[in-house]
Amino acid sequence: MRRHIIAANWKMNKTLANVREFLIKFVKWKNNTEMQVDIIICPPSIYLMEASTLLYNTDVKLSAQNIYFENAGAFTGEISAPMLKSIGCYYSIIGHSERRAYFHETDADVNKKLKALLENGMNAILCLGETLHQRENGETKNVVQAQLSADLYGIESRFFDNIIIAYEPIWAIGTGKTATPEDAEDVQKFIRQWIANKYNQTVANNLRILYGGSINHNNIAELISQPDIDGGLIGGASLDKNSFIKIVEIANRIIGGK
Ligand code: PGA
Repeated sequence: MRRHIIAANWKMNKTLANVREFLIKFVKWKNNTEMQVDIIICPPSIYLMEASTLLYNTDVKLSAQNIYFENAGAFTGEISAPMLKSIGCYYSIIGHSERRAYFHETDADVNKKLKALLENGMNAILCLGETLHQRENGETKNVVQAQLSADLYGIESRFFDNIIIAYEPIWAIGTGKTATPEDAEDVQKFIRQWIANKYNQTVANNLRILYGGSINHNNIAELISQPDIDGGLIGGASLDKNSFIKIVEIANRIIGGK
């Protein structure tokens, strides 16, 4: 049985006071709740240190939103995997479509970042997904397959305990347009099958594949009820603590009842 994940991607939002308020309230709520899902919080890097302190001794996981693939050196402005590890942060999102689009990250970069995380004993939330144009042209599975193949190039099956994949159709991110549960399931099933063919069935069965793109408390239940959707990576609806708690509550109920 794969344990579901609800992950909050705060992107470039919040002040330090907001971060403190959110996490203090969230941890208090979580401590009084029987959790059926894993939680990962991805704050902007400037708040990771504070978040690490606030989440110390809880089972809420902390994740960066991006890393650089070198461990150290003259790379002004960048943050490395060993640096994150040293503050108790063992996850990073990589390959988010906003980084691919606005910061010109290629699959080759994403692959290097993935290797940097895995070689440092860390975990990756690897994001991929198609544009609206690609979907309308019927290219979704080709695009996803090409991303999987390039992003996972040279990654051995033993590393898969430390990999989470997030399927995020770009046209659904921050747009209010969610993929239908059936459309998301169709692609996520395809991803799992691709992993089974490339690696083996056990790796595929154990891999957690999240959906991301305009998830909110109205659509989370249907999405995570799909057999190959093992949780969500949530942007906009994760910013407000009450909204995020509501989503986690629903996920707990659905997963608990499964
Ligand atoms: P959204 O973002 O929930 O605001 O669509 C999801 C993501 O980009 O991870």
